[in-house]
Amino acid sequence: MSPSPEPPLRKPPLKGLVLSGGAGTRLRPITHTSAKQLVPVANTPVLFYGLRAMADAGVTDVGIIVGDTHEEVRAAVGDGSALGIDVTFIRQDQPLGLAHAVLTAADFLGDSPFVMYLGDNLLQGGITELVEDFRAGDADAGILLQRVDDPSSYGIAELDDGRVVRLVEKPKQPRSDLALVGVYLFTSSILDAARAIAPSARGELEITDAIQHLIDTGLRVDPHIVTGWWKDTGRIGDMLEANRLILDVMAHRIDGDVDDASTVEGRVVLEQGARLVRSSVRGPAIIGRGALVEDAYIGPYTAVSDDVVVRNAEVEHSIILNGSRLENLPARVESSLIGKDVVIERTDAQPRALRFMVGDSSVIGLL
Ligand code: G1P
Repeated sequence: MSPSPEPPLRKPPLKGLVLSGGAGTRLRPITHTSAKQLVPVANTPVLFYGLRAMADAGVTDVGIIVGDTHEEVRAAVGDGSALGIDVTFIRQDQPLGLAHAVLTAADFLGDSPFVMYLGDNLLQGGITELVEDFRAGDADAGILLQRVDDPSSYGIAELDDGRVVRLVEKPKQPRSDLALVGVYLFTSSILDAARAIAPSARGELEITDAIQHLIDTGLRVDPHIVTGWWKDTGRIGDMLEANRLILDVMAHRIDGDVDDASTVEGRVVLEQGARLVRSSVRGPAIIGRGALVEDAYIGPYTAVSDDVVVRNAEVEHSIILNGSRLENLPARVESSLIGKDVVIERTDAQPRALRFMVGDSSVIGLL
């Protein structure tokens, strides 16, 4: 930095950019009909955790990039006031990559520094400290990194002596196990970088390549290793794990009805209008408004959404979305993600047979 006789200008607050487009192919069939960012973790859409993290960090001017599922995202988020933010929706016509999403938001961003948050990511520690450090420092960009077991599924960073030297998007032969977490801190220099790069082999403008471009042109990209947990909820296993991690820290709260023949053990959230009838719930678990659990068992790490019916069935370590019904099941349901208005039941209909009406890309595991 060149020396200046003037006192340094107070840096502007960061804007927020949250990405909530994308097809969510790895969560089909759920994402055939629903935005992946709205799939609930502990009965709250994944996206809301990121938006709350922004609000907590004082980032209130937030742009949300939306794609084909824009109506659903707009309906869920509204103007953002319930979450403590002021939202501008920005339409990306095609999912052409994260750097393309940044360019789509160019007018919204202006020359402001910003924090970009991928709407399907969950970060335990929030972003407050990161935002404050970035605002106080001189870096042109900040990236978050965490070691992973499957580096070829992520953008990967190579460090040399604590400096970022190379970033590769989903390398076939990874040279490091440090994955790029889906939270980035940028100055407006990233816009020029995004304009300068070419689409990758998968036809997308990769944010990973744009950050590499910053490094190649001599700009400063600071790495920050994330120590708390981080989850990219793009796949069912990650979704269930995120659900487990959030349920683990929820406070016990019983606002619904528990009849005398039911038991509640451990930390359980029973929302208003939820009913337990001759059932047992072992937390951590959450049961949404209007849900009915009758002659049933709900085991640890289960999130039952609003208006679900579980009758004469056992469920554990699962997420069940609104309006579904599980009834008369011969075995416990485990490690499952069940969409909206799904019916899974045992019937006495003849001939005795398995009967399915199942959407594309569904997965069914029988005993
Ligand atoms: C994106 C980024 C990748 C990053 C990941 C984090 O991948 O391209 O660099 O590691 O998010 O969640 P995607 O999940 O969109 O394939």
